[in-house]
Amino acid sequence: MCGIIGYIGREEKASDMIMEGLAKLEYRGYDSAGIALATPSGILVEKTKGKLVNLADHLAQIGFPKGYAGIGHTRWATHGEPSDINAHPHWSQNHDVVVVHNGIIENYMQLRQELLQNGDTFLSETDTEIIPHIIAQYYEKDRDPVRAISQAISRMRGSYALGIMFADRPGELYAARKDSPLVVGLGRHENYIASDIPAVLSHTRDVYFLEDYDIAILDTEQIRIVDRAGHSVSRDVFHVTWDVAAAEKGGFPHFMLKEIHEQPHVVRETLNSRLLDDVDAPKMEDLGISKEVLDGLKRIYMVACGTSYHAAMVGKYLIERVARLSTIVETASEFRYRDPIIDEKTLVIVVSQSGETADTLAALRMSKQAGAKVLGIVNVVGSSISREADYVFYTWAGPEIAVASTKAYSCQLAAMYLLTAHFAMLRGKMTPEEFHELKGDLIGLPAKIGEILNQEEEIKKIVDAVDPLNVFYVGRGLDYYTGMEGSLKLKEIAYLHSEAYAAGELKHGPIAMIEPGTLVIGIVTQKSLVEKTISNLKEVKARGAQVLCIATEDVDPSLMDGVADERIIIPAGNWMFTSLLANIPQQLIAYYMSVKKGYDVDKPRNLAKSVTVE
Ligand code: AGP
Repeated sequence: MCGIIGYIGREEKASDMIMEGLAKLEYRGYDSAGIALATPSGILVEKTKGKLVNLADHLAQIGFPKGYAGIGHTRWATHGEPSDINAHPHWSQNHDVVVVHNGIIENYMQLRQELLQNGDTFLSETDTEIIPHIIAQYYEKDRDPVRAISQAISRMRGSYALGIMFADRPGELYAARKDSPLVVGLGRHENYIASDIPAVLSHTRDVYFLEDYDIAILDTEQIRIVDRAGHSVSRDVFHVTWDVAAAEKGGFPHFMLKEIHEQPHVVRETLNSRLLDDVDAPKMEDLGISKEVLDGLKRIYMVACGTSYHAAMVGKYLIERVARLSTIVETASEFRYRDPIIDEKTLVIVVSQSGETADTLAALRMSKQAGAKVLGIVNVVGSSISREADYVFYTWAGPEIAVASTKAYSCQLAAMYLLTAHFAMLRGKMTPEEFHELKGDLIGLPAKIGEILNQEEEIKKIVDAVDPLNVFYVGRGLDYYTGMEGSLKLKEIAYLHSEAYAAGELKHGPIAMIEPGTLVIGIVTQKSLVEKTISNLKEVKARGAQVLCIATEDVDPSLMDGVADERIIIPAGNWMFTSLLANIPQQLIAYYMSVKKGYDVDKPRNLAKSVTVE
């Protein structure tokens, strides 16, 4: 995820403070970094691709001044590959405004077009570059920075945390935010802005958390916060008591838990990247899959590994059931060696959080060589898969630091939902009216994830009370795939043997394993299959298993009486999307099981975040 730091103070040390702050943000992952410094003759900007040391070496080489005020940024590429040019800060046309930005501006193409028509030129491929251009446009009118920022942000749709400097105001820093965190740190004769507390923690423990649409104005002595209309607002000072390690995790004990809690935000980002308020179809033109292309296809493969493979399973189920397109899912390590039928009438969809998984990348290369078009569903911009695929659907989960994938999976599912709708509409299997309704359900997903996260304490209690020898995850339809992901997570971080089974398969073998000490987690969210799954759960209950049901609130509770020892009830809704919701408790179950056993949650044994070797 991108990181922001800003410093203004009486002592001439701004660039040192900014570089120190950026170093504190390195743990979040980034691909380039940059700095802007106020000087009497204007703002200086330097930026480099790669690690912070590249920027530090470059600054030393050119004798970059220390200065009194500046902003810095570590970039995690979203729009445009990692490069010097795409790194932040970005300039306005006349170099009078400089901006660093975290988040995504969804309508940047439209705004960029308007600016181009006005004669502006752009250097980068980023969405961010339009921001200083728009602010400068308004600033030129009456030299009122707050009004200029406020007018600019009223034009932007999406999420942003901004650090802003005006060339003719070297004694001031500006900050603004919406849907992307930003804090303002209070010092003595110096003040700070930061996307994350660790960036400022060694200098101050007193911060304001800016709220949506707040604009902060900082000088060396004071901080003023105003709303969009320019009226002063007061925010409470928060005294940070966390140590640095806890602060890096946003106050959570582990990155995994932090990432679990980021899901409402990141799922919203993925959805917003493809949904428009006034259009009843997902925005997918860049994927190169038109009706003609789809009609001309003989087959679709989805290829992935691990958690991404589970997202592909959900995608296949939905594409077949809703868009009526036959789709084959395979693990990349099998696909690449079995000589599958691939030609120019084949679409291969590769799914990968990292975009670097060796087997998935090999499957991509093999498919392209055989003439197929490849669509990548990828989280990391600039990764090998994103560069080599013909088309890319980015999931906007931000960097995932915990080895166990959580938020990236939820964003992959959101991508699958959108892709399914796109295919279904192209094939005439979904009307704009039906999509309109679906869009409402999609937009409601982040709030529902939040409701489930509110049950964290109860889920922890359930985990604390069980000590299973082994665990079965069972379900039917989409619930089966949800169970596969739950089971993988439990194995990965709690080292507990578990298996996922289609509930109807139990009696074909695995039921022989059921005995006291076995925990069976039944996922029950698919209306037409509820009674069937509950019957299977009765069978395991009768053989001594402990049963935990993860069920939607519209499942008749009496059906679970006498079957479920424990139940976790999740919000009901569109049958497709409960696959995302039912997985949230599973993530928390695995997490708390690992914590209970005292394991290294974020770095489980024998595993790597990105499997770049076979
Ligand atoms: C997920 O929790 C795992 N760490 C692992 O299964 C992962 O999903 C798999 O290695 C694929 O990674 P990718 O999505 O980066 O390609």
